[in-house]
Amino acid sequence: MTRITRAVIPAAGLGTRFLPMTRSMPKEMLPVGRKPVIQYVVEMAVDAGITECLIITGRGKRAVEDYFDRSDIAENEENARLDALIDRLDIYFVRQKSPRGLWDALRYAEPFASGEPFVVLLGDTFTRPSCLPPLIEAYQRHRVSAIAVQPVPEELLDRYGVVEATPCGRGELRITDLVEKPDPRKAPSNLAVLGAYLLTPSIFPALARTRPGRNGEIQLTDALREAAEAGRLVGVVASGRRYDIGEPMSWLLANIELGLADPKTREAVQGLLEELGAGKGGALLQDRSPLIR
Ligand code: UTP
Repeated sequence: MTRITRAVIPAAGLGTRFLPMTRSMPKEMLPVGRKPVIQYVVEMAVDAGITECLIITGRGKRAVEDYFDRSDIAENEENARLDALIDRLDIYFVRQKSPRGLWDALRYAEPFASGEPFVVLLGDTFTRPSCLPPLIEAYQRHRVSAIAVQPVPEELLDRYGVVEATPCGRGELRITDLVEKPDPRKAPSNLAVLGAYLLTPSIFPALARTRPGRNGEIQLTDALREAAEAGRLVGVVASGRRYDIGEPMSWLLANIELGLADPKTREAVQGLLEELGAGKGGALLQDRSPLIR
């Protein structure tokens, strides 16, 4: 069994959806509860057995690099926990010369991957529970690239990469095609690409060959289509909640939701919601789609 030990975390994007905050701070450092979003992402990786992380940064992202230095101020419990997390990892950084897109960021990971399969997690997005263990299991079973997908309401499909796929058991799918931001009426399914990937090194030549697709943009989806057409791409239907923190509404809701989940803050947040919404807070959260945008 191949152990998956490497994770690539692209964190060089401009964060235009979160302007003006991102004029002077990386969106990956936005706090969710008591930690920046990128810490949730790194924790997901470490919990799944990752021991080496490559974080792709760029202009204005130095705070991300500084965050993962040890600080050794042990009196603070959360701080000590982060130091312990850092001790379990080798962390590398590479700078993307210009934020041309996720596909371009991933090209910088080729030397790090060293010809082995690796995980990709977006620096501003995490799932709870983690979608990583089923993704790694799918790779071990099929020995091909695996991507996490999740059902999305039809009217939101034009915001995502959407897969054409047939079920192959255990919540897994054989992906035959991917379409970026489809017209919802013509979408091949309601399953959207979530932003967590287990990729084999064959992605690198595919990325080099990829040319602009829809809207004149190059998308990772276009490179993945090559694997899909060759029958070498599986999907894993993720059951957890996805938090895309790069989107202000999603960030706000994630803070409320994690505030309710944290025993240290639950009572205060619950109390505030009840006071403000006359007890409607819980229902409001449950009514939302599993993909927060
Ligand atoms: P996004 O598409 O959410 O990032 O990419 P973005 O371009 O910053 O988003 P806008 O500007 O709000 O629309 C998902 C992840 O990929 C990284 C981002 O930092 C984010 O963590 N990324 C994106 C890169 O590393 N490089 C890029 O060129 C683009």
